Amino acid sequence: MSIAIELTRALAADATSDREGRVVDAVGIGVFADRFEAGDVAEGLDRDFLRSQGFSAKPGTSCVVPGPDGQVVVALGLGTEADATVTTYRKAAAALARAAYRQTHLAVDVLDTVPEGLDRPAVAQALAEGVLLGAYRYTALKSDPERNHIESLTVVGKGGKRVLAALERGRSVGEAVRVARDLVNQPGGTLTPTAFATRAEDLADLKGFEVEVLDPAAIEEQELGGLLGVNRGSTEEPRFVKLSWEPGGTARGTVALVGKGITFDSGGLSLKPSDSMIGMKADMAGAAAVLATFSALDAVQPPVRVLGYLPLTDNMPGGDATRVGDVLRIRNGTTVEVLNTDAEGRLVLADALVLASEDEPDAIVDLATLTGACMVALGTKIAGLMGNHDGLVDQVRQAADAEGEPVWPLPLPAEMRKQLDSEVADIKNISGNRWGGASVAGVFLQEFVGSGIPWAHLDIAGPADAPDDDGETRKGGTGFGVRTLLHLLSNYRKPAAPTKG
Ligand code: BES
Ligand code: MN
Ligand code: ZN
Repeated sequence: MSIAIELTRALAADATSDREGRVVDAVGIGVFADRFEAGDVAEGLDRDFLRSQGFSAKPGTSCVVPGPDGQVVVALGLGTEADATVTTYRKAAAALARAAYRQTHLAVDVLDTVPEGLDRPAVAQALAEGVLLGAYRYTALKSDPERNHIESLTVVGKGGKRVLAALERGRSVGEAVRVARDLVNQPGGTLTPTAFATRAEDLADLKGFEVEVLDPAAIEEQELGGLLGVNRGSTEEPRFVKLSWEPGGTARGTVALVGKGITFDSGGLSLKPSDSMIGMKADMAGAAAVLATFSALDAVQPPVRVLGYLPLTDNMPGGDATRVGDVLRIRNGTTVEVLNTDAEGRLVLADALVLASEDEPDAIVDLATLTGACMVALGTKIAGLMGNHDGLVDQVRQAADAEGEPVWPLPLPAEMRKQLDSEVADIKNISGNRWGGASVAGVFLQEFVGSGIPWAHLDIAGPADAPDDDGETRKGGTGFGVRTLLHLLSNYRKPAAPTKG
């Protein structure tokens, strides 16, 4: 799906076309709750009618009103003016796309109401993203999919080059998030590690980044014992995908992105119960977010070199699966006793973090659907944020906040490490108790980050896969993390504070 995005100063008087004469089938008009309450509402909207429909302009809500000549007018709730953020506008645009899904030419008239202090280009970008994301549906496997009708979006408002560039950036970012959603939604039976790697190669050709795919022989040769151990119960071959991209201008540094790529997590011999296995096709959402981020780098042009590391396998209980009690040797020589084959993400990430560290980046950020414990702690919408470096963790936090992707800090207590002491190996892969599972997993990962390298870890087990439609996300794969990563890379500063531990 591609949507043409234009900017126009104003719509024609009846709003059914813009000043360039382009037809507008549906127009979204922003409504602030406090002004609406006070009786003030934009021309073209009937306050009494909206109230009769129960509309009160809460953020993210919308109300469809019949307009002239069969046009659809959509009132878009923005909440109170003082509370409006960039996120408010992204959700409003998504609400418009949803309400006007059957219309062809959309216009959104909110930009000129953006309160002082909010960055207009950032709002414009969010409007483009919101429409692309609100209109998203995964239809690849429907025999009679409902066609998406939206062909164009006209953003109404004053704006010069910066706003135009922001709309373009919003389109690139929105399309990248859609790439991640498609990957997450695709079933594990067809999105095998091999298919995922092929998709990475295709995107590299299309979007201008470099890719290298390690096959099983190369993975053996590189001694990626964690990835091989998890793959052992599968009839599907593993892959390890390396990505890289260089900016056009001078680079401010190198950032390494690592993504968990378990294309299906059955638990292995420590088999999951049936209900817990539902949704485990999404266990590659970290890898999907990293690959999707690469797909937008050339358009967004962050001022850093970017490297990507994606360990890809499914986790299956085949006849030669890793046995409970087996010991795997990670690339750096660390031996790991596997006491639960369902704690597999940390095993493949260990190899990936070692490989990333060998390339001596200025920072490593990993994304992983790592623990159910993180969902117990933070729910289905908020990612857990951990790391060894306050400066980097703060940057990730700020990027996520700015992009409306909620994250919350969790600790990495040094004293937790002893819970992972093994009788027979250097470390074991579970603590053996139920407590603080997200932090335990983080403490395990930290072991494989090269000393002195700032590292941040996002446990996205909750927000990678949405239980319902909400704002710009739809039920299923969300593409969580793509916007945060692109924001982080675009605004990256070499973190100053020293590395802990
Ligand atoms: N992929 C799961 C984590 C997960 C659970 C993601 C629910 C999304 C939704 C991970 O591989 C896993 O199974 N973790 C175990 C770890 C445990 C065995 C220490 C878990 O969370 O139960
Ligand atoms: Mn698992
Ligand atoms: Zn998993």
